[in-house]
Amino acid sequence: MRMAKTNNLYIAILGLGTVGNGVYKILNDNAALIKKRTGKNLIVKTVLEKDLSRKKLITNKNVQFTSDINAVINDPAINVVVETMGGENPAYPFICQALKAKKFVVTANKEVVSKYKKELTNLAKDHGVDIYYEASVGGGIPIIRTLKAGFAPEKINSIYGILNGTTNFILTKIEEEQKEFTEVLKEAQSLGFAEKNPTMDVTGLDTAFKLIILAAVAFKVDVKLTDIAYEGIQKISLRDITYAKELGLKIKLLAIGKRLKNNTFAFSVQPVMLPQEHPLSAVRNEFNAIFIVGENINEAMLYGKGAGAAPTGSAIVSDIMDISYTYPQNNIRNLEYDFKSVKMTNPAELYAKFYLRLLVKDTYGVLEKITNIFGQHKISLSKVIQKDEVKKYAEIVIMTHKVKETNMKNSIKELQKLTPLVHEVCSLIKVGIDNL
Ligand code: HSE
Repeated sequence: MRMAKTNNLYIAILGLGTVGNGVYKILNDNAALIKKRTGKNLIVKTVLEKDLSRKKLITNKNVQFTSDINAVINDPAINVVVETMGGENPAYPFICQALKAKKFVVTANKEVVSKYKKELTNLAKDHGVDIYYEASVGGGIPIIRTLKAGFAPEKINSIYGILNGTTNFILTKIEEEQKEFTEVLKEAQSLGFAEKNPTMDVTGLDTAFKLIILAAVAFKVDVKLTDIAYEGIQKISLRDITYAKELGLKIKLLAIGKRLKNNTFAFSVQPVMLPQEHPLSAVRNEFNAIFIVGENINEAMLYGKGAGAAPTGSAIVSDIMDISYTYPQNNIRNLEYDFKSVKMTNPAELYAKFYLRLLVKDTYGVLEKITNIFGQHKISLSKVIQKDEVKKYAEIVIMTHKVKETNMKNSIKELQKLTPLVHEVCSLIKVGIDNL
């Protein structure tokens, strides 16, 4: 049923976890404000949830609580399906079923949107409805709508930022509380920032999913996970963060998407040392921030809470309100079905400055051997600093000039062969973002 015969829009929420419950609460608590702004009542009709203990969260007795997806799909009165289950299964098939049943879909699911954006937008188009995913990137930050509406005339040349609250919280606490990664991770889990299984966050995968979505909206390109060189923060130690600070730098896990001069694109997710005066260096704890560089706007930055029930719930409700303004018509601004396949440049082929930390045997001739290897790989050094003694080894910090990333990585392989003179290559971190 496409036509809303009244000023009511009926909603089903799939999954009443943290975010689903946040959506339910905002729709209830802000019902009068929403009606005033949209002219519509946005009414939760059905909640799909396997965990029956969550039924107590539903305060309105008129809401149907079910664990059967057919109660949503086969209900012609439901106009909008909100998917807040997370993960690929069964979220993806449920979203497909909802679109086929001509229901608008709003989702926070970065995994599903990043993997199936093309299939889902085409399915929506074929059935005269649409799919919205503001909450899938940056929680409460309205980055998707800003890219589509505010920056509609812009040719965007790069988009980069901090897209994961958990890892930014961990990096902040390592620095401010002088603790190591594993200790801070436990603290983040007990505070509810990090998931029980934080693998997606700390490995950079969550950030990579979000970068794929930003790439689709900002550049209209179809990026696959295999196009992104991604790494996480598991290897970042207090020592690296401390030395970065001494050098006037700060380590942030950055998603970077860039249109290169030859009109190819490069995408990466990795820890980067940024100058302390860069606006992204000031982003602390679980906050996210996204930097956009466009031909006319030059630079813009959006900042806000990237996770949590209320910010993410608010982004979802904003999508439902967007649907309601033109329902049952699609909002033309949202109709983007043409994500182009484009040529990618492997970020490893680009030039960057690097920070390197090594543990070496404290004896004559070691540095000569190391610098010889760098020379053979055309790597020019800007600083070599001998730090404290660690585990009876000399700790060496090296900063390079701009060098080709593959050359840097190849030289690391050679350094590792110098064992036992080189005991350990502890870290290799890119410095700055102007160079990608
Ligand atoms: N786990 C994510 C984060 C939130 O820490 O940013 C949802 O995308």
